[in-house]
Amino acid sequence: MTPTVKPVVNDKRLLTRLSDLAKLGATKDGGVCRLALTDNDRLGRDFLVALMQDANLHVRIDQIGNIFGIRRGQKDLPAVMTGSHPDTVRNGGKYDGAYGILAGLEVIETLNDLNIETIRPIIVCAFTNEEGARFHPDMMGSLVYAGGLELDTALSTCDANGLTLGQELKKIAYDGDMPCGDIVPRAFIEVHIEQGPILEREEIQIGVVENLQGISWQEVIFHGQANHAGTTPMQGRKDAGFCAAALAVYVRELSGEFGGNQVATIGEIELTPNVINVVPNRARITIDIRNTDNAILCLAEQQIKKKIEELAASENTTSETRVLARFDPVLFDQDIASIIEENAIALNLSHRRMTSGAGHDAQMMSRICPTAMIFVPSKDGISHNPREHTDADDLVAGANVLLHSLLTIANE
Ligand code: GLV
Ligand code: MN
Ligand code: MN
Repeated sequence: MTPTVKPVVNDKRLLTRLSDLAKLGATKDGGVCRLALTDNDRLGRDFLVALMQDANLHVRIDQIGNIFGIRRGQKDLPAVMTGSHPDTVRNGGKYDGAYGILAGLEVIETLNDLNIETIRPIIVCAFTNEEGARFHPDMMGSLVYAGGLELDTALSTCDANGLTLGQELKKIAYDGDMPCGDIVPRAFIEVHIEQGPILEREEIQIGVVENLQGISWQEVIFHGQANHAGTTPMQGRKDAGFCAAALAVYVRELSGEFGGNQVATIGEIELTPNVINVVPNRARITIDIRNTDNAILCLAEQQIKKKIEELAASENTTSETRVLARFDPVLFDQDIASIIEENAIALNLSHRRMTSGAGHDAQMMSRICPTAMIFVPSKDGISHNPREHTDADDLVAGANVLLHSLLTIANE
């Protein structure tokens, strides 16, 4: 008896498409800038839609601009879905998001090449504004899709220049008419680069992602009084810049004190008037803190609130805070995680269970259907950086695990 040969994806096609997509919005230093709903995002979306059409997928676009490429199944059963996001941070890499969509498309192309039909439909999607780098919160398209944010609220969200997401969506012609949440899948699987150091360090090819840490984003603004840097005594200053700097140090120290999984980042600082010899009258900073344990995350939030009040009182400034995103930790579906694990084993790939440190669309889809994720290693654990890199073998391995995991569910 001849052993049955497992289908595998076409590695060359996948890698070529990854490099072609990375040219859209390419930056001089080898990175990619496709901020959500900019012209570059439109170029990326157009590229993906053309590929979906070439693969004979039925393309639908919903009211928040999420794109769905649908491959029919033999039966009219709930589909199995995969996908990720085409947008990037301001100077991101080639794989964050792009890999998940193109690996999904590669699965479809492989099935088409081999004339493999599935019982359930398979859908590849590209979600709007996952990064949240231009419009907050992050994972917005999948959040609206899963019913966690009102469509109108999302559409009226402004970027730093006061442009609304709705206007920008219309401008790039991705304001579709499919109602958000119209298709409720049987399951969702997202393949993504790890964006951290664990798989590389342990020389493991496949991460079976079973949970994802909670995320808390806030903006803090201190209002003080501008004054002359040379003549204003240190006593009695209303230095908004000092408050922001002290808060930044405090947040960093707090993460050390909490230890374990607590991470903290001050990603944006703006001083006004931002002049060397003027005490700042306004300082704006953003705080990103994350933890797998929601109780500890809440405690960190409370301590930061207290510190903001203390700093404002001692420096005679006022403060205002605004929540930009707040998501509880997520536990993915154990059955879907097991399917991924079993397929990694069947493909002879090394694997381990793990937690996602980053936010993902899968986190939102888990609100409406059984969901889990597949990770592949990130070189030096670097992401949100032009140096983001994953070896070709690992990209192909992740796509093959996706192929077989989707097949398992699509043929149930
Ligand atoms: C999304 O990339 C996030 O985790 O910030
Ligand atoms: Mn991503
Ligand atoms: Mn990202």
